[in-house]
Amino acid sequence: MNFDKNAYTVESLTVGVHTIRYRQFADLLYADLPANAAYQRMHIYAPEGFYEGESINGYTLATAPVFMPNQVGGYMPGEPAAPGETQEGSGIPNTVFCALEHGYVVAAPAIRGRVQQDENKTYTGKAPACIVDYKAAVRYLHAFAKDLPGDEEKIITNGTSAGGALSSLVGSSGNHPDYEPYLKAIGAADAGDEIFAASCYCPIINLEHADAAYEWQFLGVNEFRRMQMNLTEGGRPEFSAVDGDMTPEQVQTSKDEAALFPEYVNSLGLKDEQGRALTLAADGTGTFLEYVKAIVLESAQKALDRKTDLSGETWLTVEDGRAVGMDFPAYARAITRMKTAPAFDGLELETAENDLFGSENVNCRHFTKYSLEHSKKRGEMAPEQVVRMLNPMSYVDAADAQKAKYFRIRHGECDRDTSLAISAMLVAKLRAQGCSVDYHAPWGVPHAGDYDLDELFAWIDEICR
Ligand code: DHB
Repeated sequence: MNFDKNAYTVESLTVGVHTIRYRQFADLLYADLPANAAYQRMHIYAPEGFYEGESINGYTLATAPVFMPNQVGGYMPGEPAAPGETQEGSGIPNTVFCALEHGYVVAAPAIRGRVQQDENKTYTGKAPACIVDYKAAVRYLHAFAKDLPGDEEKIITNGTSAGGALSSLVGSSGNHPDYEPYLKAIGAADAGDEIFAASCYCPIINLEHADAAYEWQFLGVNEFRRMQMNLTEGGRPEFSAVDGDMTPEQVQTSKDEAALFPEYVNSLGLKDEQGRALTLAADGTGTFLEYVKAIVLESAQKALDRKTDLSGETWLTVEDGRAVGMDFPAYARAITRMKTAPAFDGLELETAENDLFGSENVNCRHFTKYSLEHSKKRGEMAPEQVVRMLNPMSYVDAADAQKAKYFRIRHGECDRDTSLAISAMLVAKLRAQGCSVDYHAPWGVPHAGDYDLDELFAWIDEICR
């Protein structure tokens, strides 16, 4: 592994009316003993103006923040991000393009994913590979900081969904010894993997408790609505809407899972910003429910303040332009359920997460006691330690985990991929540890990311200055 500051190309790119010139350091291997050399690499981009002595938005070659997006989705392999358009032909500059234009250095790693196999059919990208790779890429940045563009003390990770999970995990678990043997095994650089800040869109985290959280939120909503992806003969994805009712067995699972949630929430000892304990009674009501409702009400309030017409939201009580109350079960019905119970640890081992928690030679495994006991496939259980290593909640209060100072977490108000409780619990835990967390559930936003780059960059500029 090395970094040769003379091995670069200078690129120029126009999207719409915007043109950027940047220096590209391509295909930097961040693991000396790669399990998958095609994926354990990263591209680094820097505004070319920096090398001509320019400053952009007050940043220079030495001081620019290092924005570090990952493109992992569904815990699949993540390709390294590159400047371009949001979608081919859109004419809209994408995140990396905008970041370079704004004066950030961008470090864009590829990351292994759950389906990858080597020539012996051994799986190489099962958990914890994704988080190990992201950390190894961070270590590379620290190891070669002296020669790299930007300020490697100002690394800001970014990702959406599974990628948001990875961002929150890097931010929560810096330098924790749990990951050390895995980092050694791939020959990661001998350097720290702590970061300055983490930007996380709708993080799919806390997988071993996400089933219970999902049913706590969607209990009583027994119809589901989702998009199904099928591959055409030509191997292209095709989406069709699927609506259906949960089976009586799934409805029972929903009740069983919902009943597990209060005990978990109560075990966390969470507090709100006023120091009040966040707990749930056995029936799922309590101060934690009020805390989650307040997140939705704040979201509605911001929409009202922008003069959005919310009169159709019958679950919401608005008085004199103030969002003052809500019916939580009716809200869940209104946003609709996407997943059947159990949402994450499938009884048929059919979910992305079952696949994530496979091993070198077992494709899919369980990761909750409930689904193990109710498995229809006599599935095996993933090791507790591996499940733990994918969950930022395991590290936030660990003294030997170096937390990012800043987090920005966005979880769309009508996201149905995971319960709002999941991000809410992480936020409360991070704040209790003194991390500064900018958290919001933007109104009318589903499971998505990078939709508010101006605000994201304003946050980065504020914390970096
Ligand atoms: C993603 C979405 C999911 O619903 C899930 O269970 C895991 C990952 C994603 O979009 O990355």
